[in-house]
Amino acid sequence: MADRSGSAPQTSRHPAPRHFLTLGDFTADELNRVVWRGVDLKEMWRIGQRYEPLRGRTLAMIFELSSTRTRVSFEAGMHQLGGHALSLSPNDSHLGRGEPVEDTARVLSEMVDAVMIRTFDHATVERFAAAASIPVINGMTSRSHPCQLLADMQTLVEYRGEISGTTVAFVGDGHNMCNSYIGAAGLFGFELRIATPSGHEPSQGILPAPNVELVDSPAHAVDGADLVVTDVWSSMGHEGEEADRRAAFVGYQVSPALLDRAKPDALFMHCLPAHRGEEISNDMLDDPRSVAWVEAGNRLHSQKALLEFLLVA
Ligand code: CP
Repeated sequence: MADRSGSAPQTSRHPAPRHFLTLGDFTADELNRVVWRGVDLKEMWRIGQRYEPLRGRTLAMIFELSSTRTRVSFEAGMHQLGGHALSLSPNDSHLGRGEPVEDTARVLSEMVDAVMIRTFDHATVERFAAAASIPVINGMTSRSHPCQLLADMQTLVEYRGEISGTTVAFVGDGHNMCNSYIGAAGLFGFELRIATPSGHEPSQGILPAPNVELVDSPAHAVDGADLVVTDVWSSMGHEGEEADRRAAFVGYQVSPALLDRAKPDALFMHCLPAHRGEEISNDMLDDPRSVAWVEAGNRLHSQKALLEFLLVA
């Protein structure tokens, strides 16, 4: 119905929304709160306790790159919290036909309660968030994958009871997962040792960072570590470089033998999907020290905690 008063209608419900584009958008206290809340929400889900604070709320998910875990965990998470999620790709929206990101952000801000975006260029999520009046979540860019770090940290507290004071080894490509671990080291208070082949170090401007050391070999990174992490050698956006990268990363495969250098109760994590025979040996995910399936499942619960924080808290 038309506004009969002649005054301008309200168009912005959230004049200053919080966004989650990198871990640095939250304080260390807020991050820890979200991680521990994920543990609570997982237990509530396990015992069948209904908790639906997002009834009537909608999350729009924009995927410019493919996804299994991010898509399913956000959609299932919104459903479990009583809300709804919808998915858009460039093919089925006007983003793929040149409608500006800022216009899309303003329009979606009128219709849904939050937006999650997976896109290659980090500047796209920054532009979207700058124009949006609702919370915007980074579902992975070439620079960072903060939602994965929430799940990884939840998995670490579930197995170890704490994050602060632990030592983490990252072995492999200094790309978005490595960048996110670098940000997490200072905020969560763990020591991070990174081993990457020459030419595949973390992006310029990411280092130096608190609690982070670049070391000269996977063995040096893993020695005495509590947690060993890797990621694929050719991420989305590296298509066509696979053969060169396989050659460059020789010696950087994570295997049970490499993990034997870590603490006896060390854990292994991989954000998945994994390429057996490349960044991990064929048997790494079957090793009892691997918690990759729990880690993947925790995407669901840690992101429910994130959605609750952004939309309810
Ligand atoms: N780890 C992760 O983000 O998985 P997807 O690419 O399947 O979403």
